Amino acid sequence: MSGLPSIEITIYPYDCDAYGHVNQAAYLLLFERARWDALARGPGQDLFRRNGVWPAVRRATIDYQAAAYPGDVLRIDSEVQKLGGSSLEMRQRATRVTDEALVAELQILFVMINDAGKPTAMPPEVAAAFGGRPSARPGELVRHDVGEVTLAVDTRGDGPALLLIHGFPLDHSLWAHQVATVARWRRIAPDLRGAGASDAPATGYSMSVYADDLARLLDRLHVERAVVVGLSMGGYIAFEMLRRHRQRFLGLVLVDTRADADGPEQRKGRDDMIELARSKGATAVAERLVPRLLGRSTQQTQPDIVEQVKAMVARTPVPGLVGALGAMRDRPDSTSLLAGIDVPTLVVVGAEDEVTPPSAARVMAAAIPSAALTAIPGAGHLAPLEAPTSVTRVIAEFLEALPKP
Ligand code: MLT
Repeated sequence: MSGLPSIEITIYPYDCDAYGHVNQAAYLLLFERARWDALARGPGQDLFRRNGVWPAVRRATIDYQAAAYPGDVLRIDSEVQKLGGSSLEMRQRATRVTDEALVAELQILFVMINDAGKPTAMPPEVAAAFGGRPSARPGELVRHDVGEVTLAVDTRGDGPALLLIHGFPLDHSLWAHQVATVARWRRIAPDLRGAGASDAPATGYSMSVYADDLARLLDRLHVERAVVVGLSMGGYIAFEMLRRHRQRFLGLVLVDTRADADGPEQRKGRDDMIELARSKGATAVAERLVPRLLGRSTQQTQPDIVEQVKAMVARTPVPGLVGALGAMRDRPDSTSLLAGIDVPTLVVVGAEDEVTPPSAARVMAAAIPSAALTAIPGAGHLAPLEAPTSVTRVIAEFLEALPKP
């Protein structure tokens, strides 16, 4: 069978009808049980859930070949016959192991549907599990439709969810080390709308829109609650998620961010930057911003990180830059929210961060009941990239100490 192992199933008396027969309904259940068992031994029974799809049966036909009785052990082999863009046709054969007699065959057609019950594209991991194209390689992005836009998302691992929200003007690759190495958590690192490989509509950017996109992404991934990690603008979005989607939080990690809103000078700075983005494009924004984003030590000793961040900023679509700048300029003050944060919280700041400096992080951490604060030596505003192992370690330690969800 393509992708799934053979499964042996014993027929029990309760599988049979009043006449002791395995009837059509019972065969449907036996074949289904074999599929779930096969998934459990391979990609996991949450294969569909974690990919945000459900295999809906569109057609199923049973062919009886020989009688089977309670106590018989059937070997169920499954073979994928057709793998379409959103459909999967499979044949399952039940063979009695004692005499190798074929007792029944099932021909079944599935269509992948989304939350709205609409046919949707087969995610690469699902296709791979059934022998199709290879699953998302580590780092390969899967696109998720969250309503108005499609977000590109790097999702890895199993366990409770860790949602990693990047800052401005960056993308999911800011979290490359954390996504690759935080074990026993399902790491979800999206590109926000207007960033990286996600859709970049011309208008429609605000903290509430970003927050709602992410809540819908969690819905699509069937994640009820997550530890939400936000860097800088990602932190502003995390505050907005707290306002709008409080029930989705298992915990909160605020990295290189602040709670207060822009003052008049910063607002003017946002407008100037919008002007620069519109007139000279993303490369000019990268030249202007990158020296502020990275710490002194990184600029002196990690030229590859400097180049990586420049490239990341330079590939941000201009509508995404303009939209995010406007959203940050107009964001509400979140200071009054801090005292009411009642989920475990960690505040992390690069010791050389000049955009959201350690002094701001200290004030913020002090205002959040029982928040811990960690400063990362040698890192600036993009601590997860500049000092990846230190940031991963402090996040992992925080996650370890959380009550098990
Ligand atoms: C960010 O890293 O998201 C931005 O620097 C935040 C800001 O400019 O306020």
